[in-house]
Amino acid sequence: MNLLDRLLAATRLALVAITVFAAAPAVADNYPSRPITVIVPFAAGGPTDVVARIVTSHMAQTLGQKMVIENIVGAGGTTATTRAARAANDGYTLIVGHMGTHAAAVPLYSRLAYDPQTDFEPVGLLAGTPIMILARKDFPAKDLEQFIAYVQANTEKLNAAHAGVGSVSHASGELLNSILGIRPTGVPFNGTGPAMDALVSGQVDYMCDQIVNAVPPVKNGSIKAYAIATPQRNPSLPDVPTTAEAGLPAFQVQAWNAIFAPKGTAPAVIGTLNAAASKALDDDHVRKQLLDLGSVIPARAERSPEALAGLVRSEIARWTPVLTQNMH
Ligand code: MLT
Repeated sequence: MNLLDRLLAATRLALVAITVFAAAPAVADNYPSRPITVIVPFAAGGPTDVVARIVTSHMAQTLGQKMVIENIVGAGGTTATTRAARAANDGYTLIVGHMGTHAAAVPLYSRLAYDPQTDFEPVGLLAGTPIMILARKDFPAKDLEQFIAYVQANTEKLNAAHAGVGSVSHASGELLNSILGIRPTGVPFNGTGPAMDALVSGQVDYMCDQIVNAVPPVKNGSIKAYAIATPQRNPSLPDVPTTAEAGLPAFQVQAWNAIFAPKGTAPAVIGTLNAAASKALDDDHVRKQLLDLGSVIPARAERSPEALAGLVRSEIARWTPVLTQNMH
């Protein structure tokens, strides 16, 4: 190839490179240049809010911008999630969704205003949150076996708290109800933060909730924990047996909380946010806060946007038959 041919080839290559670069979505390379809103679909003080604040407070340091938590409540988290799906996809509105908003809600809302798999860009998983069977401190059962016998014998008198149809606490509670063959009166709250207040004060009888919300009141004796619904005990509450040890192996639930952005958010923005979230999960102080509350910190391979998309897909597949059969 003579010199002229080589020059022409190089020119063509340069033109292609410029065209590709110019076609890339217009992402300010100084993202983020202003504070980022992070929607939490439940009341402040609940597990999703606590996980969101722990992780985003570190992300904000990495990103050099505030991450402002906005608690938007209602309809088991679907009100906020609908709003997030419709938000601008500029990287400045995110949502911390979870097993409820991005999986259990699908079979429970026939006209759900969003599709967890197509209306969002997964950013990354933040924490696994094992589910516990919790009761008011004077509940008349000393272990899970007695709890099961009591709720089966008194189901019409019992109030089970949850955070609205489609929430983690609601979906987990529905699974427990179907396993035990009971129909307690469900008492909805705007999050399991306020639901826990009601449990501590004895206004409701029991609740299935994420361990993040349970560790402090269990440790100070203001509620009872009968079991944790994961194969292993949790180091934050080592004396609480697993459901399998306590005779209810069918009840296995580990919820999770994760960051999502509106569909169409630029890949470069997703990458920046994902890297900041992963960096937070590697920070010793963040890890200690999450682990002290019983969270399961995702391994690096579980933190990618692709891994989160796979989790949403598998969780919708898991919960749809459970919640559909239970609704008949
Ligand atoms: C919360 O933060 O209140 C919980 O995630 C609600 C739920 O899904 O149970």
